[in-house]
Amino acid sequence: MNGYLNGQFLPLAEAKVSVLDRGFVFGDGVYELVPVYSNKPFRLDEHLHRLQGSLAGIRLDDPHMLPGWRELVLRLIGMQDFADQSVYIQVTRGVAPRDHAFPKGVPPTVFMFAQPLVTSSPEQKAAGVCAVSAVDNRWLRCNIKAISLLANILLRQQAVDVDCAETVMLRDGFLTEGAASNIFVVKDGVLRAPPPSSLMLTGITYDVVLELAAAHGIPHEVRAISEAEVRNADELWMTSSTKEIMAIVKLDGAPVGAGMPGPLARKMDALYQTFKQQVMRA
Ligand code: PDD
Repeated sequence: MNGYLNGQFLPLAEAKVSVLDRGFVFGDGVYELVPVYSNKPFRLDEHLHRLQGSLAGIRLDDPHMLPGWRELVLRLIGMQDFADQSVYIQVTRGVAPRDHAFPKGVPPTVFMFAQPLVTSSPEQKAAGVCAVSAVDNRWLRCNIKAISLLANILLRQQAVDVDCAETVMLRDGFLTEGAASNIFVVKDGVLRAPPPSSLMLTGITYDVVLELAAAHGIPHEVRAISEAEVRNADELWMTSSTKEIMAIVKLDGAPVGAGMPGPLARKMDALYQTFKQQVMRA
């Protein structure tokens, strides 16, 4: 029972949706990805609030209230035989004859599944990853976690094509985010992040990193970051629920800072791991 579809828990292989689902035909839906450690969802309410924001952003009525979502996610987690999970939640505008206009009276399709969570190994974190840069050519509502990810997929593939892990995106000369992560810059011991806006998705990990910086007296600034600042950074990080805090050590073939994970990346990763442990013990 690693899946859930429209009111029913079932093996993923048995979950079927119509080819006329608007998620399939139009990419008309939103999603969330919740990391689960030792059977405990990390920042579940924050993920669910973001899901509700995404639903409101596409004018799709929320099919559940917060307690309903919580119960569904916890039940799904409880059905797995692996403790560290990645829970995917997707809501689409349902099944209807193909027409761009919203269908009337059609229930949304709610789909969830859990799979083993694959985070970066200590070796990968010690080595860091390479990234490429690209112009952010997505739409102007990137704060909605939409399932229509074609632009993100094409952008991420630019990195994969040259054996790199992420594409760092710049819009009008300023940093937005990664194809599937947020990007942080470190210069002279100061951690910098672009401010939340409709041009990026505010990551749950992004929020945790800034909270940890505040709690541990790490100088930090949330403000627009220019391309020059990205290219002259001492450290560059990508953050996400699955990558956690990952140092980017090469950008477009040029070393970032000393060309290896910097001291602040190592410190933040340690703080993040400790914080996770505390949350799980709580
Ligand atoms: N993506 N920005 C984008 C465009 C993302 O797709 C993601 C995460 C993030 C980081 O968000 P968070 O810290 O809440 O994971 C930022 C997930 C992991 C995905 O699509 O698989």
